[in-house]
Amino acid sequence: MTSTQASVPAFMTPDAVDHWRAERAYWLDRLGDHYRAEYGRDLDPLQSDDGTAPGAAAGSIQHSAKTNPDAFFATGARAMLFYLRELEDHGVNPTALGAVLDFGMGFGRLTRHWLPLGPELFGSDVTTDAVDFCTRHLGHRVRVNLNGFDPDLPYDDGRFDFVFANSVFTHIQTKDAPGWAEELARILRPGSMAIITALDENVQLVDVPERERERSLRESNGVYEWGNETVAQNYRYATDAAERRLWSPWFEVLEIRCHFKEQRHVILRRR
Ligand SMILES: C[S@@+](CC[C@H](N)C(=O)[O-])C[C@H]1O[C@@H](n2cnc3c(N)ncnc32)[C@H](O)[C@@H]1O
Repeated sequence: MTSTQASVPAFMTPDAVDHWRAERAYWLDRLGDHYRAEYGRDLDPLQSDDGTAPGAAAGSIQHSAKTNPDAFFATGARAMLFYLRELEDHGVNPTALGAVLDFGMGFGRLTRHWLPLGPELFGSDVTTDAVDFCTRHLGHRVRVNLNGFDPDLPYDDGRFDFVFANSVFTHIQTKDAPGWAEELARILRPGSMAIITALDENVQLVDVPERERERSLRESNGVYEWGNETVAQNYRYATDAAERRLWSPWFEVLEIRCHFKEQRHVILRRR
């Protein structure tokens, strides 16, 4: 088995205390500036509340760096800026969204950064510990749901104006991905957007033997999947073409955007 974590540089480990402290201050400042400049809103205290960071528990579902609260808040705020810019670039005002779902919310690393924008906020996840944690710490502001390993979700057709899934379809097995893609399509209002992240081969696959990757992409129609088939340890990489094949039955694929050191964002509009 290949680990995606093996090549992580020292500054990205949870012990890189000074690095993450500075990153947290920087990205929360940037996000706060964006809220104020674009929407006239301020940061919410929950966006930087150490009492609501999972600490060591994060290691069960996430990169170990995120067990450091500074890293947890820094990376969440940084990612939120990506989502906001992508929505804005495709003509959506994030403050005008009625209902937003964070599918695979984990410990609410991103969910919380929607609080100042004011949509009806929902999160769902298949991992009981993560759902219990979010219910405890965010449940007064976010409607949290524990979903099963197979669809469906307990929401009406067309319920949401935006759904995002950050580092979730990277763990869902290839055989299960179309069922979940169809379920997200069902709960989205026609014309609304979804953003789903996908592994970037130049970031998360740098340790994978090239010949193994090539063979798998050839034999599995553009997909390379590895790990042990648990939620946390199954990894799925798909080429742009394979991502387009997965989503296009229900969505227009507006763009697949790369981000420095981060996963790709597959930016979708529900037909
Ligand atoms: C790497 S974590 C990302 C958590 C969060 N989105 C974030 O970015 O911090 C992957 C999450 O996806 C969840 N997940 C995996 N398969 C899922 C499924 N079929 N339904 C809901 N959640 C799922 C896991 O339980 C885990 O919380």
